[in-house]
This record gives sequence, structure tokens and C-alpha cells, in this order.
Amino acid sequence: MPFPSNPSVLITGASRGLGEALCQVFADNGWQTFPLVRHAADAERLKARHPLTCAPIVTDLSGDDAKATISAALAAHASALDVLINCAGFAGSATLLSEVTSAEIDSLFQVHCLGALRATQAAMPWLLRAGQPFVVNISSRLGSLSKNASGEFADGSFSYAYRMAKAAQNMFSVCLAQEFAASGLSVFSVHPGRIQTRSGAAGADLSAPAAAERFYRWLQKQPPSPQCRYVEPEVGELPW
Ligand SMILES: NC(=O)c1ccc[n+]([C@@H]2O[C@H](COP(=O)([O-])OP(=O)(O)OC[C@H]3O[C@@H](n4cnc5c(N)ncnc54)[C@H](OP(=O)(O)O)[C@@H]3O)[C@@H](O)[C@H]2O)c1
Repeated sequence: MPFPSNPSVLITGASRGLGEALCQVFADNGWQTFPLVRHAADAERLKARHPLTCAPIVTDLSGDDAKATISAALAAHASALDVLINCAGFAGSATLLSEVTSAEIDSLFQVHCLGALRATQAAMPWLLRAGQPFVVNISSRLGSLSKNASGEFADGSFSYAYRMAKAAQNMFSVCLAQEFAASGLSVFSVHPGRIQTRSGAAGADLSAPAAAERFYRWLQKQPPSPQCRYVEPEVGELPW
């Protein structure tokens, strides 16, 4: 169990789906939570559930302004941050070259990849003050170059933008782990399972609370790792 007795976690994309379920399970287990949401109404709803230990952050990760908002919130409430979970993200739609637009690709990169980058840049001073900090980028099996190249997702049902953005986010995870290996930071790129959310694919078999519980159980057992790992909790490693 690598975490201190009063641990803290910042979770992006906490208004619904997996992010909201993660926020609930960490808060129920006594963690101080910093759910990042885009709308004040979502912030109020989450804070009402755990008024003493939940400090929502309201910002949109698709702009650089998010960094100052995140830093200010952490400065007001925490001296250190144990875990950052970059969970915000959404599915793309265009699955054909003739349909895909730069605007769609840009909008997904702004959240999956640059949003994770911005949140991590803002949170890094607090992460580096924790004993054994973790950054978890919620990735997808669809970000695996190996799986895509072997034809596993070649049936035409998955978008260019989503697969490109998750592959880029995976590269961010690897770069980050290498830069901060000597600082004790552990970085994971996690496929959370196929979850029944607004962004979930057809055939999703896990509820968001079940996926969040599984992730939480798994995280408790992870030793610090200087090497970036690409994992599905309680299932195993994925090929990059
Ligand atoms: N569902 C699956 O089967 C599955 C599988 C593999 C990976 N994932 C990954 O898991 C993560 C969570 O997905 P989900 O299934 O829980 O999706 P979801 O229910 O659609 O939730 C997406 C979340 O991202 C937030 N978000 C979107 N754009 C944002 C922005 N610009 N700034 C801040 N927040 C933003 C949304 O906020 P609003 O409510 O304000 O829109 C919402 O909280 C994603 O990274 C997804 O790629 C999901």
C-alpha cells in the first residue's frame, strides 16, 4: 500500500461516466478529491456528496487557461498530491479518410492529449511533494499501435481521431515517465475496460462503478514503477 493515511487525488472528466465513478470510490475510501469538471452545477453536485473532503475544480481542459485554475485550486487546498488521473475524453465519429476533419482531430487532441499534458504540468509541483506520486492517463486499447497494426480494430467502427489521440497520449505517458523516473514518479497508461458510458462502444460490458472499483483495487496494489506501464487493471499488460 504505497499511499499515506490522508491521500489525495485529482480526477479530470469527473462530471459523469468513469471519472465520476472514480471520484465516488476514492472519496468513499477517505481520499481528499479534486474532481475537475467543466460546469459549476457538476461541481456543486459532487461537493454536496463529500462536503469536507471534495474540492471541485471548474475548467475546460481544451485551453491553456486550465493550468492556472488547477494550480490555484491545489494551492488553496493541498500541500501535495498523491495521484493525478487524466480521465477526461470523448469518442470521435469519422471512421473514413473522406469524412475525417482537422477540426475533429484537433478537438480530441485538445482533451485526450493536451488536456492531460496541461493538467500534469499544473499538478507536477504538488505531485513531486508527495511520497510516491502516480500519474494515470486513462488511455484505451484503441491507442495501441501494435493492436491497430495487427488489424484488431480494422472493422471500420473506430474513429481516426480517437485512435490517433490515444496513441499520442500514450507517447506523452512514456515521455513523462522517462523524464521523472529519478524523481519517484510512476506513470501508467490504463485501458479501463469497455464501459457503459456516453463514450462507450457497442458491446461495453462494465458499468462505470464496477470499472472504478476494479481500478481502485488494482491501484492499491501497484508498487512504484520508474518504467511506464500500459495496463488493463486486473487483466494485464497491453502491447504498445
Ligand atoms: N467508455 C469506455 O468503454 C472507455 C474505454 C476505454 C477508454 N475510455 C476512456 O475513459 C475516459 C472516460 O470516458 P467515459 O467513458 O467515462 O466518457 P464520458 O462518460 O463521455 O465522460 C467524458 C468526460 O470527459 C469530460 N470532458 C470532455 N471534454 C472535456 C474538456 N474539454 N475539459 C474537461 N473535461 C472534458 C466530460 O465532461 P462534460 O460532462 O462537461 O462533457 C466528461 O466528464 C476517456 O478518456 C475515454 O477515452 C473509455
